[in-house]
Amino acid sequence: MTSGETPAGVGTTSGGTARKARPLPFDTSVANQARIYDYLLGGKDNYAADRAAAEAALKLVPDGAFTARANRAFLGRAVRYLAGEAGMRQFLDIGTGIPTAGNTHQVAQAIAPETRVVYVDYDPVVLAHARALLTSHEAGATDYIDADLRDTETVLSQAARLLDFTRPVAVTLLAIMHAIPDDDDPYGIVATLMDAVPSGSYLALSHLASDALDEKTQQSLEELTDRMVQDRMVQQQFTYRTREQVARFFAGMDLVEPGLVRVEEWRPDPGTPAGGTSLLWCAVGRKP
Ligand SMILES: C[S@@+](CC[C@H](N)C(=O)[O-])C[C@H]1O[C@@H](n2cnc3c(N)ncnc32)[C@H](O)[C@@H]1O
Repeated sequence: MTSGETPAGVGTTSGGTARKARPLPFDTSVANQARIYDYLLGGKDNYAADRAAAEAALKLVPDGAFTARANRAFLGRAVRYLAGEAGMRQFLDIGTGIPTAGNTHQVAQAIAPETRVVYVDYDPVVLAHARALLTSHEAGATDYIDADLRDTETVLSQAARLLDFTRPVAVTLLAIMHAIPDDDDPYGIVATLMDAVPSGSYLALSHLASDALDEKTQQSLEELTDRMVQDRMVQQQFTYRTREQVARFFAGMDLVEPGLVRVEEWRPDPGTPAGGTSLLWCAVGRKP
């Protein structure tokens, strides 16, 4: 993966040491993560640049569209588990994505209508759709924060408008952490978020794998995504990580069965056909 390059959405403070987040520029001529994902899910909120980038990746990885669908299905099952068996009534969903079927508050509030959900994203297109569509059940509440995940201070202080951080919170980071390069301290970001929530809180995370494909295909995919960033065809740089590197996000936590697996393998609903092999590791962990 390319390193040493400043990805879109990140600037450096005048002091030069701390990285400060800023909003993702609105530019439909350059593909971005939320709209590529929307295209892979069969949505309509994408542009020619997003479709071209997605199609280029699909040529290498035909299971790309399956991967997006399987991730969305994992979101549904994980939130259902968290609101159901785990009894979570507060969610901090970072990397909301363009709203589609089965958004976090809908799944959770179908089980417990009083659930409070705070959504966070830094993409202005997501922001516009989310404000219009992510409306709560009247017994619960939703809020939407326009912030970069790297700015954990803003995320946590604004989330506290709706969430009570003295009570357990389910933090969901689904298909977002691969958009945080190593230089931006992805493990530190997750640790800061999990330090802010009490014992009994949960983390659900899914992440693009660097060890899910054969070596040659993986290398071609990473070269393609690097090249697209360099040629300014996509806004975000992706960092693919191994299963072991993804496990590190859950340091000090107890993993819920079946542990760290591909998204389609996490508590599949009985009778669900396999349908493909995804490129995403995932897990749900409990803070002891
Ligand atoms: C692939 S979508 C995933 C949507 C949803 N979580 C899901 O799994 O279905 C990733 C989302 O993360 C957002 N994102 C990426 N980097 C981000 C950052 N640094 N701060 C906030 N949002 C970010 C993108 O804008 C996009 O909407």
